Amino acid sequence: MALLKIVLYPEPVLHTVGKPVEEFDDRLKKLVGDMFETMYEAGGVGLAAPQVAVSERLFVMDCSSSEDESQKFVMINPEIIHVEGSQEGEEGCLSFPGIYQKIQRNQRTIVRYQDLNGELQELDGMDLTARCILHETDHCDGIVFLDRMTVLRRELAKRKIKRLQKTGKWE
Ligand code: NI
Repeated sequence: MALLKIVLYPEPVLHTVGKPVEEFDDRLKKLVGDMFETMYEAGGVGLAAPQVAVSERLFVMDCSSSEDESQKFVMINPEIIHVEGSQEGEEGCLSFPGIYQKIQRNQRTIVRYQDLNGELQELDGMDLTARCILHETDHCDGIVFLDRMTVLRRELAKRKIKRLQKTGKWE
């Protein structure tokens, strides 16, 4: 396995709708293995393919951050089929190092996706799991968490990003 380079905002690939995954082959298995390694190394709980410059609809997730096998998920061609409730909580994103901001998300979501073998699966997630599924599915649609902030919070975040870019801390 290999560590992949995580691309930072505003790389165009982060704002591009990913292509559906069609081939469940060795290339995909290697990509997923590398994405898990990259996510754990970076200390994240989720990582989507566009964040490693692959414009495809998949992400890896482990909200336990413990490399517990039962908490490791690969979601390929994810589709949100149900949402309910709402929660507000702080989010970060590996493509926005040092930026944390409160984001409104649904409290619960049911996602339908394909696993590494192409089999259809569903996961019913609450709280942090729901937040992570929604954040990562957004990446597959070319949406970043900045787009989900209130206008005021987005302006604050953009100002901080500009400061970090100027001082060479955005890389
Ligand atoms: Ni993200």
